[in-house]
Amino acid sequence: IRNIAVLTSGGDAPGMNACIRAVVRTGIYHGRNMFGVMQGYQGLIDNNINEMTARSVSNILHMGGTVLKTARCLAFKEDAGMEIAFKNLQDRHIDGLIVIGGDGTFTGAKRFGEKYGINVIGIPGTIDNDLYGSDFTLGYDTAVNTIIDAIDKIRDTADSHDRLFFIEVMGRDSGCLALRTAIASGAEAVLLPEKETSLKQLITKLKSGVTTKKSSSIVIVSEGNKYGGAYDIAKSVKRKFTHYDTKVTILGHLQRGGSPSGFDRILGSRLGYAAVNAIIKGESMQMVGLRGNEIKLTSLEEALHAHNYKLEDDLLEMTHVLSI
Ligand code: F6P
Repeated sequence: IRNIAVLTSGGDAPGMNACIRAVVRTGIYHGRNMFGVMQGYQGLIDNNINEMTARSVSNILHMGGTVLKTARCLAFKEDAGMEIAFKNLQDRHIDGLIVIGGDGTFTGAKRFGEKYGINVIGIPGTIDNDLYGSDFTLGYDTAVNTIIDAIDKIRDTADSHDRLFFIEVMGRDSGCLALRTAIASGAEAVLLPEKETSLKQLITKLKSGVTTKKSSSIVIVSEGNKYGGAYDIAKSVKRKFTHYDTKVTILGHLQRGGSPSGFDRILGSRLGYAAVNAIIKGESMQMVGLRGNEIKLTSLEEALHAHNYKLEDDLLEMTHVLSI
């Protein structure tokens, strides 16, 4: 493997820049030519590929977002799009591709690697933390801290006004962010995609808070839960439970931005470094991940196949107990 390209694809995640820096510098250290692809798979198709030096990645370690930009590219799902992408890589003699992203990114990488035999390594980068084979995905820790910071602020105003807040957090179809931030912010309840909590149970819980003299309450709503968005849920709850003045906050994309936490900077650096070492050794169709503080390889197939976050029932139960 002489020439290696790196791209970020799907939703951005804090720590991607630290990871890009590690990929580029590790490759250059080992005498490889390094290329950055702009806008994910779209840049492969558009031939938006630039050679990178150690200086191209100076002073980006601490920045949120991704300097390579990102996109969700539909054209790469088509054979014609993949063909063009491969030709553009071939023209530059690029024989290794490192992709940083989530499940959509890995699905594309796996098909591309299988079809054209190019060496592909995946790095788990998504705030959702929903890939099998890495205890943590890049960006998740920062997002948890960003969400907690926001909820703490809402808690101040909720308590001052004796209000009930429904706060919607991201996670697509994974409740990992919601459950962890519910614990860390002392939320009264959390609605998750993986576990059904009926609105009746939710109201019972909120009523018990009134009985035990809670002046305000916070409910975390994971975006993938089965009752819909936070506004819908707040409306349904209000029909049957009127004790509090009720407000809704959708945290939205602020959860994806911001300077990466120390943890994500270190994780991004470790995963980027490991990805290049793996691809140089000839590994392909693998994801580098952190498991129990060790970097391990997991096949893309497995990372995708078992991608659902397994909700820990004991943590949900704990959230319930600690918020009495
Ligand atoms: O996968 C990361 C994520 O932030 C999800 O939590 C969310 O559902 C989705 O991306 C939002 O995507 P977009 O930025 O394309 O609206």
